[in-house]
Amino acid sequence: MSQNYTSESFQVFKTKDGSNSIQNIVLGDTYHSVHGAFQESQHVFIENGLKLGFYNNKKSLNILELGFGSGLNALLTLNNCDSQMHAVRYVTLEKFPIPKELANKLDYHLLSGLNNYLEDFQVLHECEWNKFVLISKFFEFKKVLIDFNEYTPDSTFDIIYHDAFAPQTHEEAWNEEFLRKCHSWLNQGGFLITYCAKGDFKRTLKACGFEVETLKGPIGKREITRAFRQPL
Ligand SMILES: C[S@@+](CC[C@H](N)C(=O)[O-])C[C@H]1O[C@@H](n2cnc3c(N)ncnc32)[C@H](O)[C@@H]1O
Repeated sequence: MSQNYTSESFQVFKTKDGSNSIQNIVLGDTYHSVHGAFQESQHVFIENGLKLGFYNNKKSLNILELGFGSGLNALLTLNNCDSQMHAVRYVTLEKFPIPKELANKLDYHLLSGLNNYLEDFQVLHECEWNKFVLISKFFEFKKVLIDFNEYTPDSTFDIIYHDAFAPQTHEEAWNEEFLRKCHSWLNQGGFLITYCAKGDFKRTLKACGFEVETLKGPIGKREITRAFRQPL
């Protein structure tokens, strides 16, 4: 993937549910579904990720996100932690951060339930890299400026939000070598959640030792995938 992006390489566009997303013009790929950025993030990562993580009365979760991008998944997770009083330690990896001016055009604080979150959203984008920051009483956050393939975690995770570009754009984020790493980064019983439901991808997950579950997708997408590292 090209590393010479400029602010002209990105543009904000409106998706069908009224929420904004970003297109990487060089790659021709979008950060969310054109059917709705908000509804996709909420359905995939919050409803089928975060909420299952807390289902068994867990007091706190360690989450790893692959691709910080617009910051929407992080913001929705923060909002959910605050409203449910659930604690999360959130690590997110990003190699190609978007320019600050672009983040300011996303207007996610105008989405339902997020009107108090403009400042927090700015902090998510502007805080120091590679350092935990306490965003709220319930949400500790660290952005790591790194290529997914060069990352070595210093802790394990309960959930991985796998939100890389699609396999046809970014094959290395979905191949067996990388998914084996994801498996090793999860706690026993932890899981990876993603919008992708391709047959090849699910076969690779199984080959890496994951127990794979196919779930109903958000509007505009038939299915999504959740994959568990089996408990001992
Ligand atoms: C589909 S976008 C999703 C981003 C984000 N979760 C969101 O809600 O906006 C994928 C993200 O992965 C990032 N990315 C692409 N290749 C990467 C790599 N090799 N290492 C780290 N991040 C990468 C992109 O810059 C982009 O921000």
